[in-house]
Amino acid sequence: MRSTLHKEALQKGLSTRAFGRKLFVFSEIDSTNVCARTLAEVGNPEGTVVIADYQTAGRGRLGRVWSAEPRANLLLSVILRPADRLPAWHMSYLVSEAVARAVHQTIGIPVASKWPNDLLTDGKKFCGILLETMATSEGTAYVAGVGINVNQDHFPSELTSSATSLKLATGSDVDRVSLFQSLMSSLEGLYDEAGRDAGAEMMRSWMDRCTTFGRSVQVRGGGPAIDGTALGLSDDGGLLVQHGDRMTTVYAGDVTISEPAA
Ligand code: BTN
Repeated sequence: MRSTLHKEALQKGLSTRAFGRKLFVFSEIDSTNVCARTLAEVGNPEGTVVIADYQTAGRGRLGRVWSAEPRANLLLSVILRPADRLPAWHMSYLVSEAVARAVHQTIGIPVASKWPNDLLTDGKKFCGILLETMATSEGTAYVAGVGINVNQDHFPSELTSSATSLKLATGSDVDRVSLFQSLMSSLEGLYDEAGRDAGAEMMRSWMDRCTTFGRSVQVRGGGPAIDGTALGLSDDGGLLVQHGDRMTTVYAGDVTISEPAA
């Protein structure tokens, strides 16, 4: 049976200093990102989280819709205010790495990352991240929207070959509260660590789990499609794609891997 998220349960046993301490819980909302943006604009602190059991207008990257069944998944947005501790381009990699670590810690499955910040298990996507930036009176704030397919059993037929959930990957229900708490801890831990070493270890770890590099890819979005080889990341976090005798740095788009790993 699917249960509803409750603030008391989500916060009981939470071991963080800031992340998830200020928490807004909804049974239904349009989009947690939209709500978190408003909260950031009126000055809510770093680590503030909006979480919902269901979104009626969930937002995905590149203007897409993010649909998820009610009471099955983790749909949340976190406010980040890194000031000058971390460059902007680190943010989505940091959140992606935090989810990967939390999933590994909670249920022990291997997690791969796919540029720009999707997370995969068994080659299928179970988590997407939508990072939004805004100017506030307290400086630049980021809202990191995280959609994790946790216990969803079914996906629309057009997604069954590319999408999965943690339940489908493991064969058992996953406790959303434990995963939420683990995510808050890994986010806070990585965020603190990245503030000390300028994100070096976090980026190394993200790149180690990335399945995109060295592969033949097609990149779409924001212009003509590019067919080439994904070589790595540029100094400012773009994807370096070699095509013919040209190298293009891609900052937004979708990558399709067109050749299986050797
Ligand atoms: C993607 O397209 O891969 C990113 C999907 C991000 C979805 C999450 S669900 C919680 C948060 N609120 C939203 O409206 N979107 C993000």
